[in-house]
Amino acid sequence: MYQMKHLLSIRQLKREDIEFLLSQAEAFKEVLSRPIKKVPALRGKTIVNLFFEPSTRTKLSFELAAKRLSADTVSISKSMSSLEKGEDLIDTVKNIEAMKADCFVIRHRASGAAHLIAGVTKCPVINAGDGTNEHPTQALLDCLTLKEHFGNIRGLRVAIIGDILHSRVARSDILALMLMGAECIISGPATMMPKDIEALGARVCLDVKEAVKDADCIICLRIQRERQGGARLFPSLREYAMFFGLSPEIFSLTKDDAVIMHPGPVNKGVELSPELMNIKQTLIFQQVTSGVAVRMAVLAMLLAGQ
Ligand code: CP
Repeated sequence: MYQMKHLLSIRQLKREDIEFLLSQAEAFKEVLSRPIKKVPALRGKTIVNLFFEPSTRTKLSFELAAKRLSADTVSISKSMSSLEKGEDLIDTVKNIEAMKADCFVIRHRASGAAHLIAGVTKCPVINAGDGTNEHPTQALLDCLTLKEHFGNIRGLRVAIIGDILHSRVARSDILALMLMGAECIISGPATMMPKDIEALGARVCLDVKEAVKDADCIICLRIQRERQGGARLFPSLREYAMFFGLSPEIFSLTKDDAVIMHPGPVNKGVELSPELMNIKQTLIFQQVTSGVAVRMAVLAMLLAGQ
């Protein structure tokens, strides 16, 4: 675990690695509840956020996680960097590394972008979401949220519903949850179901009512319209909401103590009924809090031992 240089994919992790990161994150949650939310673990380290796609939760929680660990942070976006003048991503990273950066956190629309960067820098690289491929820290924060709520992930039945085809969250969640002993059932429009998804170990069930039956947790996914390239994969948002949106009626088919999660941002009234947004079974804000703690654990794991 301590020899791990980058966090690019859940596939790198063993179950014990996830358990270790979750236990570290739980300890960091205690730090986040203190009046002075800071520990000196990464004092003197500089973490560079390269966010080339929009983000609220991931970008801010990585920044906050770094600050809570006493690291310095700097951020660039595509529109404010020399990428706009034609510089390529590799040269951009090499130039920032020459300024003595210690770690790159990257979000990029291209699947594989984080792996590409990891191949050209000596710094640890953290994948903050690459195209439709993976979002490993989202999966870790989802595991932490479930572990805190249920006490254990093993044996939970988790239904993941929505735009599976374009969802890096779905891929990382399936890999992490299966590794931790959960059962994963995935549902959504057939046009948004990747052909090879069952190879990850999840069971496909296109009928949403069947998919959510006796589930402990429903993870609703956003329709990633920015990745559909103008294709019409469903007739209208109204029809999508009717057949694949989580409504109180569909939620009533789950176990009595089931919870709702969503990585955000939520299209209210599309994948999730507005009346389910603020009920106590909905853990969306707990997920966001878990995000800061998990990212502290990942940054500390990759950087504190250096
Ligand atoms: N869950 C998530 O990745 O949200 P952001 O796009 O706001 O970072």
